Amino acid sequence: MQVTMRSENHVGYVTLSNPPVNAIGQALRQGLLEAVRWAERDRLDRVIVFGAGGVFAAGADAKEFDSPPQAPHLPEVLNAIDESFVPWIAAIEGVALGGGAEIAMACRMRIMAPDARIGLPEVTLGVIPGAGGTARLPRLVGLQKAVEMITMGKPIGAQEARSAGLVHAVEDDPIEAAFMVNSEELGCIVPTWEFHAPAHDPDLFRMARENLKAKMAGQEAPLRALEVIEAGLSLPFHQALMQERQVFLELKTGPQAKALRHIFFAQRAAKAPAHLRDLALEVRHAVVVGGGTMGAGIAYALLAAGLQVTVLEADAAGLQRAEDTIGKLTEASLKRGIIDAAQAADQRRRMTLSTEYSEAASAQLAIEAVFEDMAVKHEILAKLDAVMPADAVLATNTSYLDVNEMAARLMDPTRVIGLHFFAPAHIMKLLEIVQGAQSSDRAISTGYALAKRLGKVPVLAGVCDGFIGNRILARYREA
Ligand code: 3HC
Repeated sequence: MQVTMRSENHVGYVTLSNPPVNAIGQALRQGLLEAVRWAERDRLDRVIVFGAGGVFAAGADAKEFDSPPQAPHLPEVLNAIDESFVPWIAAIEGVALGGGAEIAMACRMRIMAPDARIGLPEVTLGVIPGAGGTARLPRLVGLQKAVEMITMGKPIGAQEARSAGLVHAVEDDPIEAAFMVNSEELGCIVPTWEFHAPAHDPDLFRMARENLKAKMAGQEAPLRALEVIEAGLSLPFHQALMQERQVFLELKTGPQAKALRHIFFAQRAAKAPAHLRDLALEVRHAVVVGGGTMGAGIAYALLAAGLQVTVLEADAAGLQRAEDTIGKLTEASLKRGIIDAAQAADQRRRMTLSTEYSEAASAQLAIEAVFEDMAVKHEILAKLDAVMPADAVLATNTSYLDVNEMAARLMDPTRVIGLHFFAPAHIMKLLEIVQGAQSSDRAISTGYALAKRLGKVPVLAGVCDGFIGNRILARYREA
């Protein structure tokens, strides 16, 4: 059963339970609809809806998108929640995304855990919200914020959601907080569908349209979402929902949505194969050899992921250049609000710059990112091999050179892998893990675990000229 219900002292507890992320498929929709009827039949004082496993819900089950939709459809289930005389409260932990956020918005009240995120990322799957998101969100947070959240698809944190008026409270234990809400206060909250739509603002839509054409050129869904929000402003609520649903269904079967879905599932399928999952060495301290553009980017990615990082360079000039480049990356992150001053200071504290290989003695991983010269790579790997613990992993960021040749001269060639980053290394998502003829499962597994820690998409490659990404790029350039 994907939805379970129980009541205690007239309070209903409804759990969404479809591990791992409570994706909303037919069974969950059916269960929710039954829960609405159950709460009404039992004349409950309120219903608290939450997700099992610390996640509210990650949205509609995208695996169902290739088949015709099956009743009950999410819009009708959410209308039943929104219109019920029993008030529902969403207690949000983890994420409430897409259809998950739409469930929450159909509730009378929303309470979020401090580290939870909420958003409508449908455009990243080539569709628009299909269960009332484009009608309910503007009513709750106003046009500007709704247009931004729906067309860019970026989820927001609990405090931002609170300031925007999307959630009523941020609490460590949202379920307990939902239980504590005063019945009278709850009874005074107007159902979302009865909220007035915000006034039309043609300038806002004109600017948003220009912005999307520049920033998301060629993508259909963000512009269609904008159209649907705008048209919905002058329609009665339920008609706004119908026009939204029509566009959602149309886009869902279109080529852009199909392609983006393929990418979504392909990226998830790229995680470590089962036999490699529990072998990884825990990396706390990593060494990067070479502080040029690539090395500095890799070092910054490792720092941003919370590791202790040592950058090794050949001389004082190299060290200065590395420090400056990493400093600029920190400044850029500060400026864009990705990190705050305290996090920047913490990153600096975790970084050491040195010319001494003895600094690598306590590291679990080294990544060499010097220029593409086999003799230089041999020399560096030999120095690392001599000082690092016997079980440490030695990686090369080479783009073209033979990883087997690099490993061959070491005492233990099984600890060598390729970790091929793409510039700018702290931003680009792809990380090729190059498996040499003798690379151990543990070394490869450590590469996969590192990719996960850095939020990158790992792709296993064999030893060959240019591995995968650059071979594709070469053909692309040729064409
Ligand atoms: N549908 C189907 N499966 C989903 C899913 C979804 N919406 N979201 C996640 N999953 C699956 C993944 O494929 C993966 O499956 P696997 O274990 O078999 O590989 C599993 O759940 C775990 O996902 P991740 O590996 O991505 O786990 P993370 O913890 O890294 O991330 C997440 C979790 C942030 C929820 C991320 O999965 C995510 O962003 N999901 C997509 C969210 C989204 O785009 N929602 C909108 C859907 S469209 C919609 O809701 C339409 C509505 O308006 C009608």
